[in-house]
Amino acid sequence: MKGVKISGIGSSKAGYVLTNEELSTIVDTSDEWITTRTGIKNRYISNGQTTTELASKAAALALKNANIEASALDMIIVATITPDLFMPSTACMVQSALGAIKSTAFDISAACSGFIYGSKIAINSIRCGDVKKVLVIGAEVLSKTINWQDRNTCVLFGDGAGAVIYEATDNNKILNMYTQSDGKNGCSLTLNSTPLKNCLIEEKLVTPYMQMDGREVYKFATNIVPICIEKVLQNTEVKLSDIKHFILHQANERILDAVAKKMKIDKSLFFKNLDKYGNTSAASIPIALYEAKANFNTGDKIVLVGFGGGLTWGSLLLEW
Ligand code: UT7
Repeated sequence: MKGVKISGIGSSKAGYVLTNEELSTIVDTSDEWITTRTGIKNRYISNGQTTTELASKAAALALKNANIEASALDMIIVATITPDLFMPSTACMVQSALGAIKSTAFDISAACSGFIYGSKIAINSIRCGDVKKVLVIGAEVLSKTINWQDRNTCVLFGDGAGAVIYEATDNNKILNMYTQSDGKNGCSLTLNSTPLKNCLIEEKLVTPYMQMDGREVYKFATNIVPICIEKVLQNTEVKLSDIKHFILHQANERILDAVAKKMKIDKSLFFKNLDKYGNTSAASIPIALYEAKANFNTGDKIVLVGFGGGLTWGSLLLEW
């Protein structure tokens, strides 16, 4: 089986910084409520950037950092729940923007776990010898799916993109992976698409916005993240105490704190940038990785954890 390593990371931000103070002029909320309940202070939202543009910018930076040409990429996977179009896929439009002429390009939908799911596909594709260089992007313009009158959701989300390049190597750095889903309980976090309407069926009205039962999702998250961490360490020689960095999906600071407490892990090991970005769904882990990597040393063991709509969850164990 081939080894796999990360060879480049990039990220990109949407153009407008929306502060808690400005949000308080749009809906009945306050900086105090948002900060104490979530830890979020600001979020970047699109003032014109598309998902494809954010994804392409993050990808171009990852390619530069990996020192490889776009034309060398074998595969491009974009994880997103906010594609610009149903067709072509965001990945195909990124392929065109980058000039990645020999890539196979496709999108996947796994909400906030999308980057972990996409990474698993990329890593397994390299391991089986089918491809050598794969670009995985998490990119979202969630602001177009938000009901800006709904204070339960509009304070939480942001736009952005992060990108990672996985490459075949003799010196394997991906130590384990774990993913799972629970479609039965998917109704706690939903985003409707085009309703069924054809010559047989009259259009039914659907709410076109992101809807979330926050308390249910909070319970799910604080329960599933420790499981993700335990599962990804199982059948490896790596112990919990060996992990130098935990990069969790950036949904809520209280979730990070609750997991740290439950697992008796020093909370300073949990990277946090949700105060600047809010929850950017599939983009949150690669954006966090891009920012956290300044603190990584060679040999550091790192755990990535995603969880969210579907319901979906998963984790990756890496060595830097
Ligand atoms: O990426 C997918 C994963 N998503 C998540 O992980 C999100 C998980 N859930 C959460 O992070 C939290 O549940 C929230 C941050 C969404 C909400 O925090 P909470 O402590 O669970 O608040 P709550 O929903 O129980 O609401 C408490 C109160 C309610 O008022 P009453 O009924 O007690 O009078 C809400 O109406 O806070 C009210 N509220 C607000 N007040 C001011 C809800 N949103 C706001 C707001 N500003 N923005």
